[in-house]
Amino acid sequence: MPEDQHYLVGLDLAGRRVVLVGGGTVAQRRLPRLISAGAAVELISPSTTPAVGGMIDAGEVVWHQRRYADGDLDGAWYALACTDDPEVNAAVCAEAERRRIFCVRADAGIEGTAVTAAVGRHEGLVVGVLSGGQPLRSAAVRDNIVEALHTGAIAGDLTPPDATELPGVALVGAGPGDPELITVKGRRLLARADVVVADRLAPRELLDELPPDVEVVDAAKIPYGRAASQEFINATLIEHAKAGRFVVRLKGGDPYVFGRGFEELLACAEAGVPVTVVPGITSSIAGPAAAGVLVTHRGVAHEVVVVSGHVAPDHESSLTDWTALAKLRGTIVLMMGVERLGQFAAALLDGGRPADTPVAIVENGTMPAQRVHRFTLATAAEDAKAAGVRPPAVIVIGPVAGLLPDQLR
Ligand SMILES: C[S@@+](CC[C@H](N)C(=O)[O-])C[C@H]1O[C@@H](n2cnc3c(N)ncnc32)[C@H](O)[C@@H]1O
Repeated sequence: MPEDQHYLVGLDLAGRRVVLVGGGTVAQRRLPRLISAGAAVELISPSTTPAVGGMIDAGEVVWHQRRYADGDLDGAWYALACTDDPEVNAAVCAEAERRRIFCVRADAGIEGTAVTAAVGRHEGLVVGVLSGGQPLRSAAVRDNIVEALHTGAIAGDLTPPDATELPGVALVGAGPGDPELITVKGRRLLARADVVVADRLAPRELLDELPPDVEVVDAAKIPYGRAASQEFINATLIEHAKAGRFVVRLKGGDPYVFGRGFEELLACAEAGVPVTVVPGITSSIAGPAAAGVLVTHRGVAHEVVVVSGHVAPDHESSLTDWTALAKLRGTIVLMMGVERLGQFAAALLDGGRPADTPVAIVENGTMPAQRVHRFTLATAAEDAKAAGVRPPAVIVIGPVAGLLPDQLR
């Protein structure tokens, strides 16, 4: 196929009739972008996949539950022949040709009068790639371009810096430790940061990717103990944001799961600094998952309680009712609990949790040093000590902690 066979163009389909014939997985893939472009999509097919059915039920697509018939393209601006029957697809394309409607033919791209580009998005940009009938190549190149836009390797915004200033602070949950587990949005904002205030547990490798002119403040090294550190962090965020710098507060896991994110948001709000919160993948669920430890399983656990172990059960500032926790049959996920595991286990045993309750401990979840240990509640504290378990670790207590992948098959 000659390289210039197709003419790449952007169509304004808002409110215009688009006819898609077929209700299978090709339709499932094509419909979301047509819907987000505001097209008035009519789908013709005797049946649909459940996902396509969901779009119909949501009123995003009008469904004609029958086979295609000549004349169905009347009044359409654009058509897509997406059935698994080449004869039907050919008939749709023939009608489209007769009516001068551009038509995509999913089973034989070259025979349609239009082809679907591999499309990616970044901050208001739409990137489309065509490669003369090599969809895998188009998709791979599209992915590379979008990734480069996200990381800043390709500048996505060429207006002068003072016109592109992002306001304030972004509280970014950077995930449990594997640098690939930050969200796309988190990564995109990180690439725009002037200042990054980074937690000890935020993925270190992400800092390595920052341009040299980005100021990195290591929140882990701030002196004077925890309370003062938080004040210092808040003050640092506010000071830089007020000086017109875009600040990313890079936090481990999710900012609102024992992450003090809301304190930072309140401090910024009081100082009149706008905050964007980017949720993250929390280590409380993802740490265990990465190590093959589940927190729920059908018929085994109907509840998960995530508990902070930063104070002992009998500490005056503890807000946890350990006696009530001990009565639950489901899963307890204990964070910051390594140091006082013996006290938590004793509280649960005293409250009636069986001594043979399985316990799984995941150290450094999702990171190269990840280790997983399986014990029982009665001896977990001694066994963890003997195994040299150290923070950061997530402790999963409950029947799910005893399930191994080969038992689940
Ligand atoms: C202050 S809390 C922060 C939790 C974080 N906001 C989140 O959502 O994951 C720190 C605790 O999270 C857990 N943690 C964080 N990262 C971890 C990891 N990679 N592996 C195991 N536990 C982790 C440990 O229990 C650690 O003591």
